[in-house]
Amino acid sequence: MKTAERFKCQVCDAEHAKWVGQCSQCQEWNTLSQMVMSAHRVAHVAATPQQLSKVDVAKYPRMSTALGEFDRVLGGGLVPGAVVLLGGDPGVGKSTLLLQALGRLSQQHRILYVTGEESLEQVAARAQRLEVPLERTWVMSETNCASILDQARSHQAEIMVLDSVQTLGMPEVVGAPGSVSQVRAVTHACVQFAKQYNVAIFLVGHVTKEGSLAGPRMLEHMVDTVLYFEGEKDRTYRMIRAVKNRFGAVNEMGVFAMLDRGLKPVNHPSALFLSHTAQPMPGRVIMATWEGTRPLLVEVQALVDESQGGQPRRVMVGLDNQRIAMLLAVLSRHVGLSTAGQDVFINVVGGLKVLEPAADLAILAAVMSSLKNQALSSDTVIFGEVGLGGELRPVPSGQARLTAAVQHGLKQAWIPAANQPKPQDLKTKALSGCQCHAFHTVDALLNQLFS
Ligand code: TYD
Ligand code: MG
Repeated sequence: MKTAERFKCQVCDAEHAKWVGQCSQCQEWNTLSQMVMSAHRVAHVAATPQQLSKVDVAKYPRMSTALGEFDRVLGGGLVPGAVVLLGGDPGVGKSTLLLQALGRLSQQHRILYVTGEESLEQVAARAQRLEVPLERTWVMSETNCASILDQARSHQAEIMVLDSVQTLGMPEVVGAPGSVSQVRAVTHACVQFAKQYNVAIFLVGHVTKEGSLAGPRMLEHMVDTVLYFEGEKDRTYRMIRAVKNRFGAVNEMGVFAMLDRGLKPVNHPSALFLSHTAQPMPGRVIMATWEGTRPLLVEVQALVDESQGGQPRRVMVGLDNQRIAMLLAVLSRHVGLSTAGQDVFINVVGGLKVLEPAADLAILAAVMSSLKNQALSSDTVIFGEVGLGGELRPVPSGQARLTAAVQHGLKQAWIPAANQPKPQDLKTKALSGCQCHAFHTVDALLNQLFS
């Protein structure tokens, strides 16, 4: 049967009988791509409803990568048939991470590793250097997604890595590899293949610094799990974060150290992001943040300095600019400390991104500490959300954050009133020796802290 050619606009989804440069519906240019109507389209099998309680959950056994931190962001291991998108900057270590994960997986499963970026020799050399035993692993250097899926089928692969999705293309789709239409078509074909043959697929996707790119971001809704691998290239630590996971918790984070023999999981990272100078220093504050299912002690540093004319600078590293603008307004209005005419630099130590509101109070404390040139004692931990009215809001898992702080020898906690532990909890071993200074408003707390 000959199927008629159809073209679909990638922006408005309008269908067209022939290819044209501009979509007649949304007027966008170069957005049409041929619809995938190939042999890779999965034959439709009519589904019948099943009683939910009778559905066999054991169909989802987890495959362990033996990298504890990787398993944890996957939600406890890799699920057969899952499509996992691993995004990150070029050079952050995506290929290295997957190669290491395959080492263990290949002891029990058949693997197909497809590289569109490196030669087979490069992959083999890296596997050797990392001392990864790749037994049931087949590698191929190919960019035609249709033939890759054919090979996967004939090799009966159970796990596949496609490195990277931006280098692959479907032959019947218009557009160069990496274009919106190709990346979408490739992902679509992979998702259908994964579900039909119960093959787990890792799709590697490069993200640019702006986080945009025809790639990972727009694929998020198509795949089961989206992981982002972050970290500065010139630093040792790498964080992997789940931003979407149909098989586990989101915002789960795993931490690795990049060593000369590859990535090594860091199992207890709670104090990793503290700088090692114990010296008190103006502008330096330790906050207790929450990542996925565990607390993390993180140092934030602020430098506030007279602006040298022109627009005062606001430079944030690892924080949300908008939120800081709001916090500085609260500082001015409710604490009476203006940063107008001052340059404000705020940096989260260790290349970590901290976007939760629980960091608010620590950020303001760091700014005030620098403004007043007054250092906090190094056994101080601070957390709490700050509202526009200057009120302090409680943060989730306050007690677990305090426990982590106490474990690392911090004793003075400055926190929202609603996070104050009960007297009997303060007597437990986990919180023993912890002095909590709890307040309802940010001005009361900061004025007392810097009195
Ligand atoms: P890679 O996995 O190729 O990054 P990606 O696939 O995300 O582009 O990682 C490349 C970087 O990692 C490179 O700069 C060198 C560094 N690296 C190490 O430090 N140690 C190692 O053992 C390996 C394999 C790589
Ligand atoms: Mg790579």
